[in-house]
Amino acid sequence: MKLLVTRRLPSSVISKLKAAADVDLYTGETAISADELRARIADVDGLVCLLTDAIDRSVIDAAPKLKAIANVAVGYNNIDVPYARSKGIVVTNTPDVLTEAVADFTWAMILAITRRISEGERVVRSGQWKGWALDFMLGSDLRNKQLGLVGVGRIARAVAARAPAFGMRVAYTTRRPVDAGFAEPGLREAEAMSLDKLLNTSDVVSLHVPLTADTRHLIDKKAITRMKRSAYLVNTARGPVVDEDALAWAMQQRLLAGAALDVYENEPAIHPDLLKLDNVLLLPHLGSATTETRTAMADLAADNVLAVLNGRTPITPVP
Ligand code: GLV
Repeated sequence: MKLLVTRRLPSSVISKLKAAADVDLYTGETAISADELRARIADVDGLVCLLTDAIDRSVIDAAPKLKAIANVAVGYNNIDVPYARSKGIVVTNTPDVLTEAVADFTWAMILAITRRISEGERVVRSGQWKGWALDFMLGSDLRNKQLGLVGVGRIARAVAARAPAFGMRVAYTTRRPVDAGFAEPGLREAEAMSLDKLLNTSDVVSLHVPLTADTRHLIDKKAITRMKRSAYLVNTARGPVVDEDALAWAMQQRLLAGAALDVYENEPAIHPDLLKLDNVLLLPHLGSATTETRTAMADLAADNVLAVLNGRTPITPVP
């Protein structure tokens, strides 16, 4: 049984895979190229890949023996899932194990953008700080404000659970019907509303939807102009959910108070206009980036690929 692993993973995970299979490990510093991926996948039974690998038709067609694709990520927009399924290939992702880390990070971003943490650090490091002043670098309170969650999956719910600690009320919007409401603190009292109303009434809008044909550019010029001028936009989901041209334009026009982005339309490229704006917080896709969480994600992907190749049910097949 042969596996291709497209990037270095924690050594405990590689040992687990090597104990069970013949492992071809790509050790380049950046993502494997499409050509190399197609060449190295030709005789493998299982693939462990990352969100930076495009597993499209050409890659799947290059792998006639492939039975399992285990993505080390909860998002799987990098994989042509319907095509993989049509070839009898099982696709898995890594939900749950990263939920709390991403929720923590979302709050780190909310606090950082509303309290101008990164901007303030830049002022100090550049030697421009002239001393304390009553009206210097004022941000916005969170208490008694509305947090609007776009999507109400696991990560959104974990973000909502932290809202009472900051005195925020929660609103959410979802296209899937929610039958019985939610029992979790933060969400129990949350108000379900249309996207339009949520954009119009929220002080912080945080995106928690997967990237699909329906959610690409969900936050476009029209959506952004529905938001309050005092509001903040936070994206820890996938870059293309936001139209970056529209966001850059809106930020230049001061139509929003701030935006905090961990993901981008063309990672790792950043829209040049966003780079120039102080009220935009830019982070390098770190939502799940803790040692514990990334190890758990890699471990879950390994267990998934080994389960499929050994004829067992995978732990977390993509829905
Ligand atoms: C990270 O972005 C993930 O989908 O796990």
